[in-house]
Amino acid sequence: MSKPVILTGLRANNDLHLGNYLGALLPIVELQKAYAGEYQVNLFVPDLHSFTTPIDHSKLYDQTMHNLKIFVATGLNLDDKDSYIYRQSYIPAHSELTVILNCFTYMGELSRMTQFKEKGQGKQGISAGLFDYPVLMAADILLYGAKYVPVGADQTQHVELARDIAIRVNNKFGELFTPPEPENAQIEFANKQQRLRIRDLVNPEKKMSKSDETGKGVIFLGDSPEIASKKIVGSTTDSIGSVNYDYEKQPGISNLLDIFAALSGESIESVISKYKGQSQYGQLKKDVAEVVSKFLSNFQSKLNSVDESALLSKLEYSEKTMNHTANHTLLNVQNAVGLRKE
Ligand code: TRP
Repeated sequence: MSKPVILTGLRANNDLHLGNYLGALLPIVELQKAYAGEYQVNLFVPDLHSFTTPIDHSKLYDQTMHNLKIFVATGLNLDDKDSYIYRQSYIPAHSELTVILNCFTYMGELSRMTQFKEKGQGKQGISAGLFDYPVLMAADILLYGAKYVPVGADQTQHVELARDIAIRVNNKFGELFTPPEPENAQIEFANKQQRLRIRDLVNPEKKMSKSDETGKGVIFLGDSPEIASKKIVGSTTDSIGSVNYDYEKQPGISNLLDIFAALSGESIESVISKYKGQSQYGQLKKDVAEVVSKFLSNFQSKLNSVDESALLSKLEYSEKTMNHTANHTLLNVQNAVGLRKE
């Protein structure tokens, strides 16, 4: 019997920052540790999803490889036999299945996707690729019969759509797909993991995001420890003059406490009790700057020593195996819709 599949995509066309590290990279690495053995764990780079909005194409390939190395530096285990790590575009069945599923997906459904509405709003020249993004994502999931698809809250609607498409196609053609678990089960599964939502340092009402134009509120994983320290020391706090963990009233301070706890490995409770009530924010900032600097220099030295040939051979092996699985699903679909008789 094959193992049930957990699958998730590792977005890869941007400069990764501390918010990505604590909110996505680390949780995925921990997921691999926690579930391999019991599950098959598919981690892939959705490289075809990378240019649904315009990008600098001359950087895409290198950035994909760089971000995979970042995952390895975060602790992704390349030797784990239950994990497959692959690039979407290296498995052509993703594209092929998307074209087929397009004909069983409604324009109305895609128009209602929040991410499409947000990214497309008020913009000119929206690509058909952005509109179709969720169908490609459904193909990513359905080719492998993934049961659990842990994603951020902004993506749950897409997973639910993949389930709807699977059920619809099964009703028409018989059991072609294993639909992913419904939304409540997905949320319950995802909640077993802690995904910290780190805030922007300058504007702590918002989450840390690469789209901050100045870069002052964002700690990039490639920042030098000195630059990162300056960003922490210059971060926005408040004029209350007393340290409290309260995101409503003191988002900047609360964010610093969370960063300190996550990177030092101390529990948030113990960090709060250490600083609570202090009337100056300088000490907290100094301490956070220190753990962040230590973390960055440690992380960057790990990144420099990632074994690239081990990464490449893991990718090649995974891509070969996953092509086999994906082509098997695709052929069943091609037979069902009348493209093949095999
Ligand atoms: N859309 C996801 C994101 O932006 C990435 C992704 C693409 C994905 N295909 C997927 C995630 C399939 C899970 C499953 O984060």
